[in-house]
Amino acid sequence: MARKNTTARAAKKNGSNTMWGGRYKLGPSEIMEKINASIGFDKRLYAQDIAGSVAHAEMLVARGILTAKDGAAIKRGLKQVQGEIESGRFKFSTKLEDIHFNVEARLTDLIGPAGGRLHTGRSRNDQIALDVRLWVRDTIDKIEAMLRDLQEALIKRADQYSATIMPGFTHLQTAQPITFGHHLLAYVEMFGRDRSRFADCRARLNESPLGAAALAGTPHPIDRHRTAKALGFDGPMANSLDAVSDRDYVIEFIAAASITGVHLSRLSEEIVIWCSAPFRFISLSDAFTTGSSIMPQKRNPDAAELTRAKVGRIMGAFVALCTILKGLPLTYGKDMQEDKEPLFDAADSLELGIAAMAGMIRDLKANPVRMRAVASADYSVATDLADWLVRKVGLPFRQAHHVTGRLVGIASDKGVDLDKLTLAEMQAVEPAIDRSVFKVLTVEASVAARKSFGGTAPANVARAVQEARKRFL
Ligand code: ARG
Repeated sequence: MARKNTTARAAKKNGSNTMWGGRYKLGPSEIMEKINASIGFDKRLYAQDIAGSVAHAEMLVARGILTAKDGAAIKRGLKQVQGEIESGRFKFSTKLEDIHFNVEARLTDLIGPAGGRLHTGRSRNDQIALDVRLWVRDTIDKIEAMLRDLQEALIKRADQYSATIMPGFTHLQTAQPITFGHHLLAYVEMFGRDRSRFADCRARLNESPLGAAALAGTPHPIDRHRTAKALGFDGPMANSLDAVSDRDYVIEFIAAASITGVHLSRLSEEIVIWCSAPFRFISLSDAFTTGSSIMPQKRNPDAAELTRAKVGRIMGAFVALCTILKGLPLTYGKDMQEDKEPLFDAADSLELGIAAMAGMIRDLKANPVRMRAVASADYSVATDLADWLVRKVGLPFRQAHHVTGRLVGIASDKGVDLDKLTLAEMQAVEPAIDRSVFKVLTVEASVAARKSFGGTAPANVARAVQEARKRFL
């Protein structure tokens, strides 16, 4: 015969929390309830919370702590709760504070006192540590797949534009001609490092806090190895105090997200610049731009601007998390509840940014004529002339640099490109120059010559595309 839950009944009467109100005579003030409740945002953890409870219940049965009958009722009840949440029928209650209490209270509604046995040998402290860990792990898997998709989009474009010449910049000043494919592959490398950072974070977080209980462990003969394995962890965390207080994986995740964000933001900035009228290097279609309500001709790269801006939120989350945790003595502190909104917001912002970027990369159209024209201007092949003087005339590079500088000055005064100087004009500066110099003074020759490993030559880029496919896709 099951005993009546007298605590819950008394608590219901006086308004105190039915889950912990045994010693309470009064309920919380309105403001206490408001500041304390996390259900508004931690309901996102329902699937992880229920998966953790199922693993815990199965272990309790296996260890003889729960009867098989209670265990079966708990699993059936949890399944129903999950169904109710997923179909939108579940009534979340602020009075019940968080996802753990909301699920457990409904479970007890459904199956009676057996629901109250689920919490044996565990606390909300190890429970939330588990839920967030599982959530971050799931989210890393999602982000990893999205980054791979973005790399795929970039590699495809790099292949298409492997020989398309554009100006390469330093200080945003025309430096040397490069290929658009080479430029895009630079981002493939960045997003590859980002993926490995997320993978590192995943590998390090993959230990289970479940069973640490409130902080010190539990007298019940639980099996932490079993629950760890059931939930796909490498094993249980070694120290119960660390298990409930560690949020390194949240910080590490947001740090990795911030670095990825930096890359997304740099590429966004380039897209904004490339789309602008003075550049006109690329265009985005109607699908990834917006118009102006007053200027009918406008086509604004809002997706790139918003991706760039969302990174501010991710970095803000990193600062918020470090600030929340840095003053906390061991072990759990309610401050930790404040980790979730920044975490969720950072993850949402990152996912949106990656998806928008993949969309823009697939959408963009390059303007090779314009890119080539800008690449040829501003004496971008001056280095090629200096290198030619080193190779063919045998000048030390410093002297070659000086001679080239003088020739650039003369061309600039005349308002012409280097290849429009006459041989006589060149020989007046360096008598050893001969007619063959004109062959290196085109942007095509310039990029084709940069065949050193990792260089921009179209043949290199075509090979690098194949390599990138093997390494990343
Ligand atoms: N909602 C809490 C959080 O997110 C769960 C853990 C609460 N534990 C406690 N002892 N009050 O951190």
